[in-house]
Amino acid sequence: MALTAAYNLLNESIIHFRDRPVGTVAARDRSPAAVNYEECFVRDFVPSALVFLMDGEAEIVRNFLDAVRELRKQQKVMAGHQRAAGLMPASFKVTSEDGKERLTADFGEMAIGRVAPVDSAMWWMFILRAYARITGDDELAKGSEFQECIKQILELYLKESFETAPTMLVPDGAFMIDRRMGVYGHPLEIQALMFCTLMIAQELLLPTSGTQDLLAMVAKRLQSLRSYVRIYYWLDRDRLNEIHRYKSEEFGFDIENILNVYPESIPEFIDGWLDEGSGYLAGNLGPGRVDFRYFSLGNLLAILFGLATDDQARNIMHLYESRWDELVGEMPVKICFPAVTGQGWQLMTGSDPKNVAWSYHNGGNWPTLLWPFVAAALRTCRHDQARKALILAESRIYDDSWPEYYDGKKGSLIGRRANFQQTWTATAYIIAKHLLEEPSKCAKFKKMMFEWE
Ligand code: GLC
Repeated sequence: MALTAAYNLLNESIIHFRDRPVGTVAARDRSPAAVNYEECFVRDFVPSALVFLMDGEAEIVRNFLDAVRELRKQQKVMAGHQRAAGLMPASFKVTSEDGKERLTADFGEMAIGRVAPVDSAMWWMFILRAYARITGDDELAKGSEFQECIKQILELYLKESFETAPTMLVPDGAFMIDRRMGVYGHPLEIQALMFCTLMIAQELLLPTSGTQDLLAMVAKRLQSLRSYVRIYYWLDRDRLNEIHRYKSEEFGFDIENILNVYPESIPEFIDGWLDEGSGYLAGNLGPGRVDFRYFSLGNLLAILFGLATDDQARNIMHLYESRWDELVGEMPVKICFPAVTGQGWQLMTGSDPKNVAWSYHNGGNWPTLLWPFVAAALRTCRHDQARKALILAESRIYDDSWPEYYDGKKGSLIGRRANFQQTWTATAYIIAKHLLEEPSKCAKFKKMMFEWE
């Protein structure tokens, strides 16, 4: 019953443009928390696209890819500043002018957080590759307009800025967490997506005289990014011991504590939190800074894309096992742990009431994270965890009308300002269900996700 209801929600969420399906709205709630939930968000469309592709309905995905590529041209000059053509919109909607339908894009200038959606173009690349893998239609990506688009994305994302590491430097809230949350700098989720984008570029960008230099940069960056994240983001008992005894204020090249992290910055929660066999990738790294918070999407994507080593992937899933109550609780999966509270919340979020402790982006539980969780559990042979998470979600999300997020330390309360009928809550459930119960659809998913050339 829940599966049928999830499909009904997905089908009703489809947006048509000039009679062709082109995307899905973020939520079908009659009184959404914000008006733009009636738009198609690029990141929210990812699980929709995966469902459509598993079901052999590729047309809507193709239309979406084409539409978003075209929408890049709508960028407005903001405060006299013209942004690069590689930036893709956060969301878009269908408007009507003189009886003629138009697509209108938002590059973050209208959304509440007013942030640049750095993840959009990277998710677009991900969907493009998934589409090509499943349909066997290589021609779309090979077309001149798509090739130009991939080039422009890479030119923007590989552009030299002020980084001192191979990781990508971004402003606060540039991804799923799209409000101020102290996630500026080098957040893990962006590094995982960047890694995936570079791998896809190697597959989809055709080698020509015009792309030679770019492809060389891609290959180099891919290697350096992978080693850097695997070494410096990794936290387990041994690593914590090292940081705990770090010397600081070291000058020169041959030093251990390259970011000059003061051991005094290790937060209290981590004392005794990691058992033997558990580990994870830190949320963020920068000068004098390790963000020790656990961010689930970044860690799960690192497992799915092979950015984490096999051992690291196993240890991350072991952490879920040993800290199940805190990281999953009553609704899979918590977006980050722990929440920032009190003065920390005031300073980090600018006293954002939607992001109070254990709510929304600040330690809320998001059922849309069910799909990467189940996929990561399968990749690491943890069927038990995948099944347990699905059963937990299944016991509530349909009865609760597909909420966007849950609140509380264990995620037991429906989010205070959560929408109902949230599309990516339903699509994440459909994916998880197929992965565990439909072998032929699971095989298609694996082809899109785990098989690289
Ligand atoms: C919120 C979420 C964002 C999502 C959007 C639409 O802004 O933070 O990740 O894309 O809602 O669901």
